[in-house]
Amino acid sequence: MCGIVGYIGSRTAYPILIKGLQRLEYRGYDSAGIALVDNGKAFIHKCRGKVRDLEQIVKGKNISGSIGIGHTRWATHGVPNDVNAHPHRSMNGKFVVVHNGIIENYSHIRTLLVEKGYKFESQTDTEVLANLIEDIYMSAQCDAESAIRTALQKVVGAYGLAIICTDEPEKLFGTRKGSPLVLGMGNGEYFLASDATPIVEYTDKMLYINDEELVVATPKGIRLTNIYEEVDKKIDVTTVDMKLDNIDKGSFPHYMLKEIHEQPNTIADTFRGRLLADQHQIFLGGISDVLPRLARARRIIIVACGTSYYAGLVGEYLIEEYARINVEVEYASEFRYRNPVITSEDVIIAISQSGETADTLAAIRMAKQKGALILGICNVVGSSIPRETDAGIYTHAGPEIGVASTKAFTAQTVVLTMMALLLGKKRGEISEELYNSLIEDLATVPATISRILADEEKVREIAERYKGATNALYLGRGVLYPVALEGALKLKEISYIHAEGYPAAEMKHGPIALIDNLMPVFVLATKDKYYEKVVNNIQEVKARQGQVIAVVTSGDTVIRKMADYVIEIPQVDEPFTPLLAVVPLQLFSYYVAVMRGCNVDQPRNLAKSVTVE
Ligand code: AGP
Ligand code: GLU
Repeated sequence: MCGIVGYIGSRTAYPILIKGLQRLEYRGYDSAGIALVDNGKAFIHKCRGKVRDLEQIVKGKNISGSIGIGHTRWATHGVPNDVNAHPHRSMNGKFVVVHNGIIENYSHIRTLLVEKGYKFESQTDTEVLANLIEDIYMSAQCDAESAIRTALQKVVGAYGLAIICTDEPEKLFGTRKGSPLVLGMGNGEYFLASDATPIVEYTDKMLYINDEELVVATPKGIRLTNIYEEVDKKIDVTTVDMKLDNIDKGSFPHYMLKEIHEQPNTIADTFRGRLLADQHQIFLGGISDVLPRLARARRIIIVACGTSYYAGLVGEYLIEEYARINVEVEYASEFRYRNPVITSEDVIIAISQSGETADTLAAIRMAKQKGALILGICNVVGSSIPRETDAGIYTHAGPEIGVASTKAFTAQTVVLTMMALLLGKKRGEISEELYNSLIEDLATVPATISRILADEEKVREIAERYKGATNALYLGRGVLYPVALEGALKLKEISYIHAEGYPAAEMKHGPIALIDNLMPVFVLATKDKYYEKVVNNIQEVKARQGQVIAVVTSGDTVIRKMADYVIEIPQVDEPFTPLLAVVPLQLFSYYVAVMRGCNVDQPRNLAKSVTVE
């Protein structure tokens, strides 16, 4: 959600900032802006719309300067318009600020500032903060760093901030609380950003800023302190392993399609060093120290949002089935406010692609206070959730740029599958023989997904047929029920068609009333223990003239006769079917959205990383 970039060094800042904002576009936004400092003066250019609109409005304007900040806004306070777009300048022009997050006590601070004669141009909480810093700076006659520090001590809320003071134009300030911020360390130059993607083409050396830390960068070096005290902190530099290819579309028209196609490779990456198929072993290094406690857990509570929550539901089936540990899956937003009963015998697993989801982060903080062991399954290395958990497993799916999650879902599901098998083995709940054969089968999943992807054209034809639908239903049972939910979410997110996922047997308790000859119904009907029952569900849909698109096991002749369309997926062990069945659903949503002219990678109103609650 929202993106921050900043640059200080000897190059011209403008192209670096624009490129950086483009790299952050995937996070979702509604306005864009930059501020450049030239000869001690700040020049601000900003507008509602996309980064390309910003590029249009700066044509012919002053874009020189080798210090600058940029922003893509995802409005929380005030409508998306030119005035509310960031950067925001303080009333007397001393400070220029870009902000990600929400200043919760902004209204109180604004009232105090209005009493002092401050006037506001925008409706944002950010402009209030810019003026608060300036008011302290001018009344206390202190330096910019102290003014920022004092102001932040008065602020309640969440922020990632990049700040420039026009009186001290050789400094770039960055600070965060609850919103991510990374500083790239170049040679005599520094890059600030919400994540590493805009920085990797310049340097692989990153300083991940922690909550309540304040960094001051000048071309000569950096200083890291806390917002409460001026004592220098140790600079902990991380070398990131992210290639530029990972964040480019390559030959694909959209990131989402690229990421769907990457899945055979990303799953192999998730396995790497963990699924040792020839030795019949699973080794999860990130949790090996806490494995005994995890295996003894009275209960596992999975907390997550959106697609990650659905991966969690798959995990629930598998961990209960193979490890026989009681699992609950909770929406982080509900869990954190519900005063749940948690003890030190519980283990919390937070699942998050971005590692920055505000509700998930808050949920683990709450559970930590109650003494539970906190684990994470995250994709973005160095993000907030992995840094706040006791242990965890990175999914290693590589940067996911499309707002609709695809490869992260399969990677999360793979991690949970490995965890379920490993726990089952450790607890003596599955036989050596079953364990070995499941491991061997799991190792074939990447190649099997490649075969499904090779049938893409078939899914495209089905999308052509149903692109005009206004509603869609997705049905599944058992471990495929969460896949039905995920299929429906994918369709709504990017094509704006209303879709619902349901346990197949629940259909007759309500949604069956919706079925008519215009309603496409996806039925996940692979050869598993529910097969006969799902065949009955298909008949119920057909009896009401519904359109059935069935995802079946290759060679199924029974459903072929009943359904309007079938999509075949190769036979695999039942616990692995989610990894396969989700792929055609991802492709269907993608093609329908493209055919309807939707912005697939940046669907309306959505943000990649939801850093506000
Ligand atoms: C997925 O397609 C969504 N855009 C969204 O539901 C997402 O899964 C959710 O916001 C959770 O994000 P996270 O995995 O980064 O925590
Ligand atoms: N709360 C700020 C605003 O509405 C920042 C939003 C963001 O994170 O982009 O402008």
